[in-house]
Amino acid sequence: MGTATLNLEGKEYELPTVVGSEGEVGIDIAKLRSSTGAITLDTGYGNTGACESAITFIDGEKGILRYRGYPIEQLAERSTFTEVCYLLIHGELPNRDQLDRFNHDLTYHSMLHEDMKKFFEGYPPSGHPMAILSSMIASLSTYYPGSSRDEAIELNSIRLLSKAATIAAFSYKKSIGQPFIYPRNDLSYTANFMHMMFAVPAEPYMVNPVLEKALNLLLILHADHEQNCSTSTVRMVGSSQANLYASISAGVCALSGPLHGGANQRVIEMLTRIRDDGGDYQKYVRMAKDKSSEFRLMGFGHRVYKNFDPRARLLKKHADAVLSQLGIDDPLLEMAKNLEEVALADDFFVERKLYPNVDFYSGIIYRAMGIPTNMFTVMFALGRLPGWIAHWKELHDDPKTRINRPRQIYTGATLRPFVALGAR
Ligand code: CMC
Repeated sequence: MGTATLNLEGKEYELPTVVGSEGEVGIDIAKLRSSTGAITLDTGYGNTGACESAITFIDGEKGILRYRGYPIEQLAERSTFTEVCYLLIHGELPNRDQLDRFNHDLTYHSMLHEDMKKFFEGYPPSGHPMAILSSMIASLSTYYPGSSRDEAIELNSIRLLSKAATIAAFSYKKSIGQPFIYPRNDLSYTANFMHMMFAVPAEPYMVNPVLEKALNLLLILHADHEQNCSTSTVRMVGSSQANLYASISAGVCALSGPLHGGANQRVIEMLTRIRDDGGDYQKYVRMAKDKSSEFRLMGFGHRVYKNFDPRARLLKKHADAVLSQLGIDDPLLEMAKNLEEVALADDFFVERKLYPNVDFYSGIIYRAMGIPTNMFTVMFALGRLPGWIAHWKELHDDPKTRINRPRQIYTGATLRPFVALGAR
């Protein structure tokens, strides 16, 4: 362990440093306030390590993303979503028996308690499916109360992964006024989701293997991303010993914002707007650069990736393949590529290292799969569930965990006497 020296108002303090397994250096400031009286200020947490974690490694300068050491490119090509869920939650790739058991458990926990179906009747048809997803996940804890026993956590993790897909599909069926389609135990996790989304009671539905493969890819690419607004929210809520469902419901709410997971919906809305407005990319690039306009290029920029987002690269490559396999010619794909080209040749974006992120091309594939735009962020949430669960478990199992309680630099009024109503 090394040290860093802090010189504060003429006095020197030694602070220990921590080095991660990939050589990342952190300054441990746990004793900073007790020894110096000062705290750190890092608005937006761009320089703050909130925990030590062994789940996901990102090198934003080099465009590296690894789950438990395995490169995202290899997992995307060779793995399945449920295998990646197991990897993230348990730390190792499963052997054949472990994977079979895991898939079996996911399948057999996919039904919702019948009473929960009634909840859907209470939402307006236009209700955003992210709001429905987060409330339904929070409601699961009323049926399956949290427990800190390891077996209960294991079972609740399975329930959450499995039932969230059913909730997502039911919320879509509700929004289009179709009957709910119950899960089928003979289908894989991904095929079952497509079945619950797109089958109708009146006729048989065959899951297209191209769609199943594309869904696996999309879910794998979203499965974890170390600390970010939603995952750190899950950890923050979990640090109070709130149960898994409550913590992850909060994560879904955090993900819904347009600067985070909500961006994938906004990308398609933006591309449609550009198309309907005559397809003038330059106009929108100019607007994105104009500080007086609120407009940003959605699906562009990232707090961590400063050269390329490896997930966006994979999605761009696969968008072409999936659309051609499905025989779909979506003009929005061409528009997205053109917009990317125009933006990447522009000094504003080059200087700020703004590149397409995971949300830029994912929506084009979801569209081709028949998934409606307002469900895109729900798809992101389904993908991110194993990451959230892995982080919640890691926090729960770590004896060093304390309730998260940041501090602040107060900038408000100093002491002043109360003024009676009549004297104000
Ligand atoms: N369009 C135009 N300008 C941008 C954009 C953009 N998409 N992103 C960043 N900038 C500019 C920003 O105005 C600022 O310029 P200046 O230095 O002149 O003030 C500079 O680039 C740095 O931006 P920032 O907002 O300070 O960067 P951040 O790290 O706080 O924000 C971000 C990261 C992803 C929120 C931001 O890039 C953004 O709003 N992107 C659009 C929304 C989006 O695609 N979000 C999905 C993120 S990836 C998936 C996920 O996390 O869910």
